[in-house]
Order: sequence, then structure tokens, then C-alpha cells
Amino acid sequence: IKKIAVLTSGGDSPGMNAAIRSVVRTCAYMELECVAIYRGYQGMIEGDFKEMDARSVNNIINKGGTVLKSARCEEFRTKEGRQKAYEQLRKHNIDAFVVIGGNGSFTGALLFNKEFGFPVIGIPGTIDNDILGTSYTIGFDTAINTVVEAIDKIRDTASSHNRLFFVEVMGRDVGHIALNAGVGAGAEEILIPEQNLGLERLLDSLKRSKKSGKSSSIVIVAEGDKTGKNVFELKEYVEEHLPIYDVRVSVLGHIQRGGSPTCFDRVLASRMGVKAVEALRQGKSNYMVGIRDTKLVLVPIEEAISAHTAIDEELIRVSDIMTT
Ligand code: F6P
Repeated sequence: IKKIAVLTSGGDSPGMNAAIRSVVRTCAYMELECVAIYRGYQGMIEGDFKEMDARSVNNIINKGGTVLKSARCEEFRTKEGRQKAYEQLRKHNIDAFVVIGGNGSFTGALLFNKEFGFPVIGIPGTIDNDILGTSYTIGFDTAINTVVEAIDKIRDTASSHNRLFFVEVMGRDVGHIALNAGVGAGAEEILIPEQNLGLERLLDSLKRSKKSGKSSSIVIVAEGDKTGKNVFELKEYVEEHLPIYDVRVSVLGHIQRGGSPTCFDRVLASRMGVKAVEALRQGKSNYMVGIRDTKLVLVPIEEAISAHTAIDEELIRVSDIMTT
């Protein structure tokens, strides 16, 4: 392997820049050539490449988003699209690539490898923390800290006005952001896609907390929760069934995906970038770099994309006890 390409793909996450920097600098350290691919797989198809050296990634470790831009690319899902991408990589004498992204990006990488035997390594970058085989994905720590900070502020005003707030957080398929930030911010209830406890339980819990003397409450709702109601419908439902509450809604949205990465995410990204280039140099392919018990591991991509990481049952119990 002489020349490695790096790209970011799918939804961006804070810390992706630290991972790009790490891949580029590791290549420089190992005297390998490095090429950046812009706009994810779309840029791969179009040959949107740039030669990188150690200085090309100055002053990006602290930046949110991705300097390489990102995209969700439909064309790469087709055989013709992947063929075009392969031709571009060959034309530029690229021997392998590192893709920083989530499930969809890894699925594309694996298909590409199966078709062309092209070496690929994945680095998990998504705020959702839903990739099997790694305890943390790059961006998750920053996202939950962003959510906790926002909820602390919401709590101030909720408590001044004795209000109940429904706060919607990201997580289409998984509730890791909701559960972790919910425990960290002291939420009353946390509604996640992994468990539907029903609306009765929500009403009971809210009744109980009013009775016990709580004046304000925060309920966190993951985007993909299974109550069948969105946050605005939940507000109406509670207003109708529990008129004792003055209810407001706050949708945190994409602020959760931005911002300067935490130290944890920067360190994780730096470590994963080194491991990814090392793996390629050792002739490995079709692995994702993961972290378990503070140690880096290589997880077959096939396994990483086979399911979402299960929700932490122990943390659910902690959350239940904390709302007593
Ligand atoms: O996968 C990351 C994520 O932030 C999800 O939590 C969220 O549902 C989705 O991306 C939003 O994606 P988009 O970029 O299409 O708004």
C-alpha cells in the first residue's frame, strides 16, 4: 500500500475533522501518500480529490463538522456508480481508503470491496452511537454534552414557570442520546425507540411527580420513539389528560450535530485514525476500528452493520430509580 484516500460520509459528527487529521498525519508519519476525497462517495464518483500532507490539516482538530464535506450518495448505491468510483480511484493510483461515517457508509464500503477487492477500513463517526462492536462512535460524547447543556438551560426556565417540557433529541432508530443525556440532565421520563412503555405510564409518572412536590419536569423524547405521537402531539395529549400542567416543547434539532468536539471525541478520533492506517498497512481490509474497555479493536464491518447497539438496560434502571 502506497497511497491511501480518506473521506467522510453520511451525517456529519463532531470529531470527524480530528479523525481526518489523524489519518493524514499517520500517512505522513509512515511515508505513505494521502488523498482527501470531498463530499463522500459523490466526490469519489466525480474524482473530487486533493493530495494531502501533514500541514494540510493544521488547525482543524477543534472544529465541528467535516472540512471534507459529507453527503448521502444515491449513485453509490448503484453498480454503475461504484464502477465510476473504482475507475477514479485507479486513475489516481489509490490503493485503499478509510471511510469515516456510520452504517450506510460502511455498507457501501463493504459492497465496494466485494465487487473490486479494494481494501477499505471504517472509522465510526456518528452522533447516534448505534454501531455494533464499539462502545463509542466519534461525536456521541460531544452530542450528549450539547444536549445536557441545552436541557440545563431549559430546566432554568421550566422551574421559574413551573412548567413541563417535552424535549426532542436526535435518534431515528436508537435512544442512546436520549437515555444518556436524559440521565445526565435528570429527566423525569425518557421515551426511546427501544421500549414503548405506553402513554399511561407517562401520565402516571407525571401525576406522581406533581403529588410528590415537583414543580417542573423535563421529558426527553428520541425522534424515533414508539408512542406513536410526536412531541407536539404529546403536549396536546398531556394538556388534555392532565390539565394541571403548563406544557412547552423544545426540539433541539441539528445543534446536536455541530460544535467543537469534546476532548474525549478528539482523543478517540486521533487514536482511531492511527489504527485505521496501521490496519491497512498490515494488509487488513473490511474492518471497522472500534473501542472496547478503553482498548482499540478491529471489528469486521459485516458485524458492525448487522444490527444497532442494544440499549443499556442498567442505565434504564438507573434512570427509573433517579425519577423516584
Ligand atoms: O444519523 C445521525 C442523525 O443525526 C440522526 O440522529 C438523525 O435522525 C439524522 O441523522 C438526521 O439526518 P439529516 O442529516 O438528514 O437531517
